[in-house]
Amino acid sequence: MAKIDITEKVVSLAKRRGFVFQSSEIYGGLNGCWDYGPLGVEMLNNIKQSWWKEMTYRENIEGIDAAILMHPRVWEASGHVENFTDPMVDCKECKGRFRADQLEETDCGNKGYKGRKAIKCHQEGKFTEARNFNLMFKTFVGPLEDSSNVVYLRPETAQGIYVNFLNVKEASRQKLPFGIAQIGKAFRNEINTKNFLFRTREFEQMEMQFFIRPDEDEKWFEYWKEQRVNWFIKNGIPKEKLNIHVHEKLAHYAKAAVDIEYEFPFGFGEIEGIHNRTDFDLKRHTEYSGKKLEYFDDQTKERFTPFVIETSAGASRSFMAFLLNSYDEEEVVKENSDGTKSTEVRTVLHLHPSFAPIKAAVFPLVNRDGMQDIAANITEDLRNYMRVFYDDSGAVGRRYRRQDECGTPYCITVDSETLTNNTVTIRDRDTMAQERINKDNLVEFILKKIK
Ligand code: GAP
Repeated sequence: MAKIDITEKVVSLAKRRGFVFQSSEIYGGLNGCWDYGPLGVEMLNNIKQSWWKEMTYRENIEGIDAAILMHPRVWEASGHVENFTDPMVDCKECKGRFRADQLEETDCGNKGYKGRKAIKCHQEGKFTEARNFNLMFKTFVGPLEDSSNVVYLRPETAQGIYVNFLNVKEASRQKLPFGIAQIGKAFRNEINTKNFLFRTREFEQMEMQFFIRPDEDEKWFEYWKEQRVNWFIKNGIPKEKLNIHVHEKLAHYAKAAVDIEYEFPFGFGEIEGIHNRTDFDLKRHTEYSGKKLEYFDDQTKERFTPFVIETSAGASRSFMAFLLNSYDEEEVVKENSDGTKSTEVRTVLHLHPSFAPIKAAVFPLVNRDGMQDIAANITEDLRNYMRVFYDDSGAVGRRYRRQDECGTPYCITVDSETLTNNTVTIRDRDTMAQERINKDNLVEFILKKIK
């Protein structure tokens, strides 16, 4: 299958099955914004929960949830007001706007030139001079829309952590090294949004800032790099689809930076950054707020500004990577009603069971002899522990296919044998193998598998 087909197919499945919809679709959509549907929000929550447990269910990492709107001085201190810009050019012919540093990879805005890249228009002198464009969204607090009331929608969650460094340290009595983690929305007025959820204007981040002694930065940088790569692998991304990109050109705050990249159909793209941010942020907030964001080491009697190792993952980008990675089309043998066999293609999402939005689907084989009631009771029992879907419409084969497309790891069927010996069939999404188990053992069986 051509690589590009996969993205198109996944976008189409995402809409059909209720993972992701275009924002404000009935009004023609809003560029760079997407809505998560019933299955999408469940899967996204599962990803965030896995990250949250991985990061904060440890002794030395605390969680917070800071406000999206922050004091405007925060963004002066962080350098975003001054530096968070992309170079932008306008095309005098098609009136399109482009990032001047991405012209080789961006399509030209004129629909008449199919496959033409924007660099060509640049070479032909169609573009204006590049100018810097700040990516932060501005708004106002209170009724007066004047410059003294400007606030920004946060472009990263990290700053909410730095400004709470003292609060968290004191409230939780943590000693170095310790981290603060946060999941939340971030907003960037990207000049060009592209590739489905990859580059959007509103997205979610899962960030952790790990505060350390300055002389331990290299050790912790390596530690977090390994931990974060392992999280992706453990949740189903094959090692060979990941790449570590080492940054030569560093952001104004960083001493070292690597990207964890996933091989998307359009090529390798960053899903998480690991940064050694030194003491830049805490020092800048100390300078701008007048509050000393420092640490006193009881043992060595030293007072210093900690260094920070940051792990910064996109929840939405990770979602896209996990979804694309799970997509498959497989040729399978199908048994026809007359006993003959034929082949068909099944579309399946091989999602890690813990990320799958629905953990189990329950079907009565036929709608008679009390099978529906038994299936409904099983559904209710399982619902105490997980998200379950009850389906009694259409041939069982069709019901399996629908659940395969949703990535449901287990399908349970109540049949005539259930009426005599209390057993049901349970079918594994990936192998399609079925086994019979006692219906009273279903909860234990599934919980063990989806952990
Ligand atoms: N605090 C550091 C920071 O924000 P970043 O590399 O700009 O670093 C971190 O962003 C992660 O956030 C990226 O690896 C990506 O997963 C996600 N991200 C950034 N911009 C995004 C966008 N426009 N759309 C979707 N995800 C984005």
